[in-house]
Amino acid sequence: MYGYFEIQAKVGITKHMGGLEATKKLLELCQVDKSDQVLVVGSGNGVSAIKIHEFTGCQVTGIDLSQDMVERAREKHAPGIEFQVGDAENLNFAADSFDVVLSESVTGFTNKTRSIPEYYRVLKSGGYLGLNEVTWMYNPSSEIKDYYRRVMGINPDSRESWLSLLEEAGFKDINSLVRAINYRQQVVGDLELQSMDFFRIWGRFFRLYFKDPEYRRSVHRLSREALHMPRGFDRYFGYGLYVGRK
Ligand SMILES: C[S@@+](CC[C@H](N)C(=O)[O-])C[C@H]1O[C@@H](n2cnc3c(N)ncnc32)[C@H](O)[C@@H]1O
Repeated sequence: MYGYFEIQAKVGITKHMGGLEATKKLLELCQVDKSDQVLVVGSGNGVSAIKIHEFTGCQVTGIDLSQDMVERAREKHAPGIEFQVGDAENLNFAADSFDVVLSESVTGFTNKTRSIPEYYRVLKSGGYLGLNEVTWMYNPSSEIKDYYRRVMGINPDSRESWLSLLEEAGFKDINSLVRAINYRQQVVGDLELQSMDFFRIWGRFFRLYFKDPEYRRSVHRLSREALHMPRGFDRYFGYGLYVGRK
């Protein structure tokens, strides 16, 4: 059976809360400009990494744990951007390598006490970390927490917990901006993140769905899980932009 990410990676779907509007805000908070070397952790299908380069002119390296995702990103042939397989919890870069580390909807899937210190290690002194991460707006029940963990493999945190994780890793000048999800904007944002190869994504999806029984079974299982979402599940979370300086 394929997990939540594998189902998406095989066809090249990725998303983050707040879409490219949130990415632009993160770039502004981290003061990214064209002289910066930027590491994008968990670059997924590559669209937001490519947009980060287009919006600012900075040099971008994108890493993702999934070989499938890295292939989907490389297929876009974006000049000046390198995509590599890599793990947020054990970054394959020397200390003090990047001016900025950005990560959107990734760190919540990792062991945060390993990944966030890794972001700190590879940043140059004075460099910015910018995270866009799922954030509890209210204290969730254990049923809701469990649903998130079991179905999507993610452990969101409250704003206070995200802030202490950054502080414990050594970050200074920490800032945050937490927003509720606006569903209409989110749908537009999700479509933007798939826009570069919308038809290829659906072509791949239907090919896999009809030709790979394991893929079909995995999609059915995930759809069943989605139908059994706890009531009010989506009221509990929003997204937070968290910025700190080394
Ligand atoms: C929800 S997607 C977000 C992708 C991208 N940041 C975007 O905004 O479209 C999460 C991505 O994180 C990647 N990921 C999960 N755990 C990771 C880890 N430990 N190291 C690097 N990437 C990871 C997944 O493969 C997936 O591509």
